[in-house]
Amino acid sequence: MLVDTHTHFYDEWLLPDAEAAIQRALDAGVGKMIQADVDSLERPRMWEIGLRHPGVLFQMLGLYPGSVTADNWKEELDAVYRIAAGDARSVPGMTDFIAIGEIGLDYHEGKEFAREQKEVLRLQFELAAKLNLPVNIHLRDAWEDFFSVLEDCRHLHLRGNLHCFSGSFEVYERANRSGDFAVGIGGVLTFKNASLPAVVARIPAEHLLLETDAPYLAPVPYRGKRNESAYLPLIAARLAEVKGLSLKEIETITTDNAIRLFNL
Ligand code: NI
Repeated sequence: MLVDTHTHFYDEWLLPDAEAAIQRALDAGVGKMIQADVDSLERPRMWEIGLRHPGVLFQMLGLYPGSVTADNWKEELDAVYRIAAGDARSVPGMTDFIAIGEIGLDYHEGKEFAREQKEVLRLQFELAAKLNLPVNIHLRDAWEDFFSVLEDCRHLHLRGNLHCFSGSFEVYERANRSGDFAVGIGGVLTFKNASLPAVVARIPAEHLLLETDAPYLAPVPYRGKRNESAYLPLIAARLAEVKGLSLKEIETITTDNAIRLFNL
């Protein structure tokens, strides 16, 4: 069994076909899939589909950096805190989340809300530590600011994973000086890329997780098309090649890692 540690069945691109996509994933040997949360607008849809598949779909709770604005962040974070405190009035069962994510920094569209994003990240790090849950980190064009927040939070002894990892080995090492961080390996590893395979080859096997980030970042030969968890074996095969291990070994290692980190 493979585990997809980061996916979004509730995304509007995938939602109309979500039930069939879940079945295709199961048929492809992907037995457990973890949905990353983004904000209060998408959250009810995530839970609606998640609750239909107990033991197969698992959910995170968190405010995504791309959803943060100066006007909305306090209200959005309050919604996260209310669920964390066990207030499940909006969707029954919504309190069973297994990680805080996806959280992080995203400056791809600019740094207008950089200050708010950093504050939201720091507060959600504190929430994860209080709840003793792993964090699922989304980062785009923001490594230096990420490290300034993470290093301020070193005392929290965070654990988690850097989702859709595309950094250097030094970035991996630096994160692990301030916590215990695995990396999420997705479709990008199947792209023609000069540096990522060499970096992944050096990362210890116990810190490797598989993910699709569906419906985005589809692996080759579906690059540019809609992604889904059923394509995870393509990523596993490429990871096996990069690590010089068999597909079976990669399956065992990454599944054990996911079960251990997310307490599945
Ligand atoms: Ni995502």
